[in-house]
Amino acid sequence: MYAPFEGRRQEKTRDRLCGRIHTNSRIHSNGRIHLNGWQHTDRTEQEQKRKTVMILAGKNKFERNAPCWCGSGRKYKACHMQFDEKLRKYQIAGNIVPDHSLLKTRADVDGIKKSAEINMACLDAVEKEIAAGMPTEDIDRIVYETTVRMGGIPAPLHYEGFPKSVCTSINEEVCHGIPDTKHVLKEGDIINVDCSTILNGYFSDSSRMYCIGKVSEEKQRLVDVTKECVEIGLKAVIPWTHLGDMGSKVHAHAVKNGYSVVREIGGHGIGLEFHEDPFVSYVSEPGTEMLMVPGMVFTIEPMVNMGTDRIFQDADNGWTIYTQDGKPSAQWEIQVLVTEQGHEVLCW
Ligand code: MF3
Ligand code: CO
Repeated sequence: MYAPFEGRRQEKTRDRLCGRIHTNSRIHSNGRIHLNGWQHTDRTEQEQKRKTVMILAGKNKFERNAPCWCGSGRKYKACHMQFDEKLRKYQIAGNIVPDHSLLKTRADVDGIKKSAEINMACLDAVEKEIAAGMPTEDIDRIVYETTVRMGGIPAPLHYEGFPKSVCTSINEEVCHGIPDTKHVLKEGDIINVDCSTILNGYFSDSSRMYCIGKVSEEKQRLVDVTKECVEIGLKAVIPWTHLGDMGSKVHAHAVKNGYSVVREIGGHGIGLEFHEDPFVSYVSEPGTEMLMVPGMVFTIEPMVNMGTDRIFQDADNGWTIYTQDGKPSAQWEIQVLVTEQGHEVLCW
């Protein structure tokens, strides 16, 4: 039924979940171990597209009077030359900095915003219809139909073999739940609907929690605190500071409220690919990880658990992640652009 996109999705074969799984993490499944090591995004295609080179460690190879690498049409010296010098200074001082391929141009940002319009329309549409008695298969249908009607492609569909257009994760399901007819929503459930869209090659990604009917106070608090974690993270998206500054604040807020944060799966750069560098942790330390540099686009999407941070993966479907102790987990996700002044939320 989803045949139209089959070919396109198969063109790109990457390591599963590239960019979302932390270095050296091992997620135990019930019976098997998956996902050993660092799952890197294959950036070749993107790098060719931009024809950019990693200049930061060495001498600046760009001609002062040549057109800027960012595609603005301006001369390099009047455009990104000073910016590159600043970046190089930070790198020499020992910071991890992004290379040019991770920095979005104005055209990229416009493209991502159009993609995000579809993504947010999907989540709005789900919000209108979601109710007790609904199988998660119906959420998949709403997302698929809304996306296609608006001219987009659901990014999860056929992504590394993922069979559906959206992830639906209920209660103790942490993420990557697969919509089907068997998961029927009932009063008191909390569910994360994680939606991602491709439009004209630009990727958007956001997720929201929905409470089905009346939920317990403790579940409601988990959902609310997780949203606060994202808001606190967003406030810490300040250019030329570290991702670890942001991640540590997210973590601290969860811990202060008696919760834990999933370590092995995190956020990611995004825009020209679904999962780009950097991996974005929400259990990181201040002053560590990549510098947040204007032009970077990444997600803030902590998975906050009521109990243990330990997780395992479904051995049967190879996707769904659960809490080890069976206690509920919540997640909200936004997609953020780092700007000269601070940040701009592109998708929520
Ligand atoms: N939308 C998820 C994210 O936030 C990724 C889901 S990958 C899928 O990065 F294949 F499960 F859809
Ligand atoms: Co994401």
